[in-house]
Formats: sequence, C-alpha cells, structure tokens
Amino acid sequence: MSEDMLNQIKIRPATAQDIGRIAEIESVCFPAAEAASLETLTERFEAFPQNFLVAELGGRLIGFINGSATSSPVLYDDLFHGTSLHEPQGPNLTVFGIDVDPAFQRRGVAAELIRQYIDKATQDGRKTIILTCKEHLIHYYASFGFTSSGLSDSTHGGAVWYDMTLLL
Ligand SMILES: CC(C)(COP(=O)(O)OP(=O)(O)OC[C@H]1O[C@@H](n2cnc3c(N)ncnc32)[C@H](O)[C@@H]1OP(=O)(O)O)[C@@H](O)C(=O)NCCC(=O)NCCS
Repeated sequence: MSEDMLNQIKIRPATAQDIGRIAEIESVCFPAAEAASLETLTERFEAFPQNFLVAELGGRLIGFINGSATSSPVLYDDLFHGTSLHEPQGPNLTVFGIDVDPAFQRRGVAAELIRQYIDKATQDGRKTIILTCKEHLIHYYASFGFTSSGLSDSTHGGAVWYDMTLLL
C-alpha cells in the first residue's frame, strides 16, 4: 500500500452494522480456539460500543481494535468470558482484539488503530492500556511504549501469552 493509500484509511468508531464484518476478520486472523465468535463480539459491542474502533478503506472495513475497562492491572481470562466484569469507569483499558485483514497487513493499519486507541484512552482519562500478546509481538507493542511484565497467567486458546502495559 502506498503512503497515499495509508492516508485514505479512515479510523472511526464502529457501528452495529460493522459487527458481521468484524467477526469475519476475527475468524481469519485467529485460530478457532482463540477467535471471538459473532455472538461474543455482538455482546461486547452492546456492552462497550465506545471502545470499538475500525479502520476503513474505500468503504470496506479492513481492521478493528476493541477492549473493556477494568480496575485490574492485568488482563485476565475471565474478562474474555461475558461482559459482566466490564467496569465502565475502570482506570485500565484492555485490548481484547486488534485484527487487520491479512490482505492489508504490514502496511501500518494496526499502528494507526493503536495510536487512535491510545489517544482515546488518554482523553477518557484512563491510566493504562493493558493487553496480552504472543512472544513474537512483544517488540511491536514495545514500539508504542508498552512494557512487558513477563508471562501472563492466561491460558486463552491454549497459547502462551505475555502481559503488556502502557502507562498513559
Ligand atoms: C498483529 C496485527 C494486528 C498487525 O497488523 P498490521 O496492520 O500488519 O501492523 P502494522 O503494519 O502496524 O505493523 C507491522 C509490524 O507488526 C509486527 N508484526 C506483525 N506480524 C508479525 C509477526 N507474525 N511476527 C513478528 N512481527 C510481526 C512487525 O513488527 C511488523 O513490522 P514489519 O512488517 O516491518 O516487520 C496483524 O498482523 C493481525 O491482525 N494479526 C492476527 C491477529 C493478531 O495476532 N492480533 C494481535 C493480538 S495480540
């Protein structure tokens, strides 16, 4: 993608009409054991719609980021299961998912989503952004200022995860 095309990417809040396409992207980005279903994504959108941002190119949705708020300093697995643990005023904003359509990866789309997610979290008065990631992405999140506090307790999807925190 050229610099010009990257400039044409629009980051905006998600709407309910986006959830089908969001679930489609999630299903191609993650193995079945880790992917959130359409039902889960719909439930999350209903609980915290303001925490969903999408990337759009020429009217087509090509990526998204979303998360809930919590008073926990780290992301823990129960947060993924249902939305009852969402604390709207919680100081820490999680990243449950950041996905970019494989046809548009490695061109800076996720970076733009992360930057705007950070801006929004700052404006909302959050204190940190927390996420868990696989080892190969630690350096990527570190490039935005996240630091790793080591192995997470998470066993989500049977994978090994690392805790990452960005102080705002
Ligand atoms: C991770 C993801 C969101 C990145 O989206 P993107 O738009 O391609 O990201 P950017 O273009 O902003 O940044 C690309 C950088 O991410 C890192 N990266 C992405 N995938 C990587 C991989 N498999 N291994 C190592 N580094 C990787 C690299 O630093 C890469 O830079 P490079 O192309 O110069 O090597 C995308 O690959 C994706 O949707 N993956 C599947 C879902 C996923 O794993 N999400 C993260 C959950 S923690």
